[in-house]
Amino acid sequence: MIESFKLRNVEFNNRILVASGTFGYGDEVPDLVDISQLGGIMTKSLSMKPRDGNPNPRITETASGMLNSIGLANIGVHKFISDKLPTLKKHDTKVIANIAASSVEEYCSVLELLDAQEGVHGFEINVSCPNVKEGGLSFGTDVTLVTRITKELRQRTNKPLIIKLTPNVTHISEFARACEAEGADAVSVINTVIGMAVNIHKRTPKIATTTGGLSGPAVKPIALAKVYETVNAVKIPVIGIGGIVTWEDAVEFFIVGASMVQIGTANFINPSTGITIAHGVKEFCEKNGMDNVGSLVKTLQTNRTISIVDSWL
Ligand code: FUM
Repeated sequence: MIESFKLRNVEFNNRILVASGTFGYGDEVPDLVDISQLGGIMTKSLSMKPRDGNPNPRITETASGMLNSIGLANIGVHKFISDKLPTLKKHDTKVIANIAASSVEEYCSVLELLDAQEGVHGFEINVSCPNVKEGGLSFGTDVTLVTRITKELRQRTNKPLIIKLTPNVTHISEFARACEAEGADAVSVINTVIGMAVNIHKRTPKIATTTGGLSGPAVKPIALAKVYETVNAVKIPVIGIGGIVTWEDAVEFFIVGASMVQIGTANFINPSTGITIAHGVKEFCEKNGMDNVGSLVKTLQTNRTISIVDSWL
């Protein structure tokens, strides 16, 4: 049974990753979690300087979901390299540094610093955070900027380059195509969906920034549709993310066409979720006579004539 997956020049143990912002820097999870059973860890977004993030409250629960407005709080790339990476790289898993920035120049500088680090195996570029004024969505909803960022970063690294896309656009496939054309190795689909929740007694938003990013099971159908759209528009691998809690959820994403998946919000309930899912997917494949998870990818049986997404492609 083959579970591993190669992206550019990096071989991942399996196709199950943990999503940025839900696993810290790999040092906040209990020792009970055997990180080596994961394909890889996407770090919390790293910027050049440390960021405090947005004021509290910045997380609230919603029906089947979580609304966050963290605002890219992080320790900064220098402290990550000195304090976190030495421990992180002891694990037998791949470390993908997620980078967020307020300018193209900052993306480039942070990537260059990390590219020189042996324990960083690749990059996921966050052009899709809905919770900051500069960078984030203002980049991720502008295809010209996404094109430029991908092009600049591609010139600076030979490690896997993954662009994390926002669902908060009309046609995500347009953005995925731009990333592919500029040499990205994969796209992560999707980041959070803009959402809002109201305290009816105080008549105030439940989070300080009024709107935030919705994640968790509530967004899974949106994520599946965006993955479906993307896999039918590009040849590079699509990494599915959005509301995956069980191995059955992950199997849905593989069938739709995701080559790898990320587990996000579920980690806040149980940081071992990714490991349970890795085992569940493997067993499902074995029971169904498949000798590798790849046999499951893009096996959706569909009457394509009735999908509105197809008319966009
Ligand atoms: O606000 C945040 O830190 C979230 C980041 C993201 O969704 O990319």
